[in-house]
Amino acid sequence: MPDSGDSKTYRRRLDKCQKLMSEKDIDILFLGPGPNMCYLSGFLEEPGERLLSLVVPQSGDPLFIVPQLYEQQVRSSSWIKNIISWKDSQDPKTVLSKIMRQILPKRPTIAVDGRMWSHFLLMLLSVAPDALYRDAASVMTELRIRKTPQEIELLEKSAEIADAAFLETLNECRQGTSEHQIAAKILYELRRLGADGIAFEPVASSGPNAALPHYRSGERKLEKGDLVVLDFGCLYRGYNSDITRTVAIGNCDAEKQKVYSIVRSAQEEACQRALQGMEAQSVDGIARTIIEAAGYGQFFIHRTGHGIGLEIHEEPYIVAGNSEKLAEGMAFSVEPGIYIHGQYGVRIEDIVVMEAGRARRLNKSSRELVIL
Ligand code: CO
Ligand code: CO
Repeated sequence: MPDSGDSKTYRRRLDKCQKLMSEKDIDILFLGPGPNMCYLSGFLEEPGERLLSLVVPQSGDPLFIVPQLYEQQVRSSSWIKNIISWKDSQDPKTVLSKIMRQILPKRPTIAVDGRMWSHFLLMLLSVAPDALYRDAASVMTELRIRKTPQEIELLEKSAEIADAAFLETLNECRQGTSEHQIAAKILYELRRLGADGIAFEPVASSGPNAALPHYRSGERKLEKGDLVVLDFGCLYRGYNSDITRTVAIGNCDAEKQKVYSIVRSAQEEACQRALQGMEAQSVDGIARTIIEAAGYGQFFIHRTGHGIGLEIHEEPYIVAGNSEKLAEGMAFSVEPGIYIHGQYGVRIEDIVVMEAGRARRLNKSSRELVIL
């Protein structure tokens, strides 16, 4: 259950949202279960096969359309009182059509949640074929990109749980343990330490598997000399954490130590030198320049970071081409890496938040190379 504000906070968010809608000539915002719905209503749920939407008009109160089994849950966790529930025995398309006939103007512009299943978009298209369709991100990104102090507190708590889980997981990292066992330990510790859920399936990649940035885990057992990349995060009242550390098993040869220290200084410099007013792409540039200068540029195969909040990956993306200026309250990851295909990989990741002009790290885990 998210807790990033009281009903006053939500009212303020709605006012700002409706103001943006009117500036952009959007008549209706049509949201599915997920971060956008949660941000405006306080109700957080995963997308599912039943029609569950939040309909926000340009003026006036929003309306929830909920399956009956969710009705009480929505009433108790959201400030929105305008709720229409439908039964499993009813046809949701008929329900939607009836509601939309009442509230839609002629040739409306409807902004649709990009994260909503296309099943519901198709339903909406058949109900309102003459509407102009836009992406709800055109309104929601601007609202969500800068976090309030309450939101930062939740991100901080989420990061704290991830940090504590990392420490506990180190006990499991030894020769002979499988990647799956390490992933299981991460999942167990996150929940035990108070997480409401996970941000994504954990990465526990060892040896050559660590050269695949989004490999999860497998049956491979850790061997002496391996580097192991641990990348995971949790959900705390709707807010995500995301941390990566790379550890060595038994020993670490000179080449791997060298690569580790290059990644570490790229990460350090990018965190230290990220300043308010700087373009997001400049932070990527800082990390990339260091890795390139060391001769490993071609092995840094992803952007330096991503925004984080109710979603694990959101704006601002720390990537070449993004000229968005870093501003107070923005939270994002700094996670450079070097991946030598078929051999090994190194990544170090922290979440930072822009405060008083600088980037403050939310993760406190040591970035020294640990040999276990
Ligand atoms: Co990560
Ligand atoms: Co990340």
